[in-house]
This record gives sequence, C-alpha cells and structure tokens, in this order.
Amino acid sequence: MKVNIAEFIISAVGPDQYPDDALPEVALAGRSNVGKSSLINRMINRKNLARTSSTPGKTQHMNYYRINEDNMYFVDFPGYGYAKVSKTQRATWGKMVEKYLSERDTLKLVLLIVDLRHPPTSNDKMMFDWLKHYDLPMCVVATKADKIPKTRWQKHIKIMKQELGVLPGDNFIPFSSEIGLGKEELWGLIDGYVLS
Ligand code: GTP
Ligand code: MG
Repeated sequence: MKVNIAEFIISAVGPDQYPDDALPEVALAGRSNVGKSSLINRMINRKNLARTSSTPGKTQHMNYYRINEDNMYFVDFPGYGYAKVSKTQRATWGKMVEKYLSERDTLKLVLLIVDLRHPPTSNDKMMFDWLKHYDLPMCVVATKADKIPKTRWQKHIKIMKQELGVLPGDNFIPFSSEIGLGKEELWGLIDGYVLS
C-alpha cells in the first residue's frame, strides 16, 4: 500500500467511539513499551504521529490512525503487562481489548508485537494463545532487531517461535522501527488481508 496521507482519528475508550465507516482495521497488541507506536510511525513514514515514549504505559486508549482517505485503520492498543497499572485498570483494559477482538467485524489482522531481544513474556504467550483460540488472522512481529547483532537474529527468531508455539505457515516477521527492517514484507502481508 502506498501511504499518501496518515491521520490520527480518535482515541477511543469504547465501542461508541470506534469509527463507523467500515474500513478494514489492523490492530497492534503487545506489551507496554515493546514498540507498537514506533512500528506504526515506521510503516507510515512519520516520526511521531503515533505518540511514542520511553515511559511505558503511554498509550492508554485505542488510538485509530487512518491510512489514506479510504484504505484502512491501524488501531494502536494500550500495552499489557505494565506493572504500575492498578488491578482495576488492568481489568478494564482486558475487557475493552477482549470485546474489541471478539466482536469487531471490520478487524482484518492482528499484529502481535514482541521484542526480538528477549524470549516472550507470559503475557505474550497468553495473547498468542488467545488469538489462536479465537482463530483471528495474526502476524507475530518481532521488533527491535537493530538492538542485537545480525549474526544472532536467527537464534533469537528460533527461540521466539519455539516458545510462543509459532507453527510453519504462521505469519512471523522480524522487524526494526529504527532501521526499517521488515517494513516492505509487513506491508505486503497487510495488503493481502485488507485489499481483498
Ligand atoms: P506503550 O504505548 O507504552 O504500550 O508503548 P509502545 O509499545 O507503543 O512503545 P513505543 O513505540 O512508545 O516505544 C518504546 C521505546 O522503544 C521508545 O523509546 C522507542 O524509541 C523504542 N523503540 C521502539 N521500537 C524500536 C526499534 O525497533 N528499535 C529501537 N532501537 N528502539 C525502538
Ligand atoms: Mg504506544
């Protein structure tokens, strides 16, 4: 997809605020601070349209970014697993995300963003299993690849796939928002899900 215009549309707290124009949606899930917002910025060639921060927990709502006038939305989720979030907030997050993932008809693809440097967290595994269980179209995107030497990428990819339970045929893309690794491959994949 050629990105001509990318626009922030709304920071939604619930279904009432989700756009009702039925454009396809690609959602990004992943732990807090893993690099979800940075990935959106890299995909659309904008430095800071999606707010990024070195302080985890920055994205609190479902942030909608529209790609071109009528192509699709990226939906940036709040990250999970942030220790300083209260139990109540965590439960609210869980309900909002679960409701969205299980009921949103326009959802075409979920990108599960993980950190290539480290084995998946228990929350990463839970999210992966949950997405599999509900049979949602998904791609695991292992980001921050620039932070480890290229010679170790294959080893880290193998561990990530093994520990998550990624099967042959499942979508998996090594990525870096810093150097742009994986960008074209991910656009190719997204196009396949949203342009059909
Ligand atoms: P929340 O909104 O809190 O859930 O975080 P997030 O997942 O949106 O993470 P964000 O994109 O804000 O990135 C967190 C930090 O990681 C920032 O300091 C980014 O600059 C850094 N970062 C993200 N992606 C990459 C990457 O591919 N390479 C490197 N080197 N740094 C990255
Ligand atoms: Mg964010």
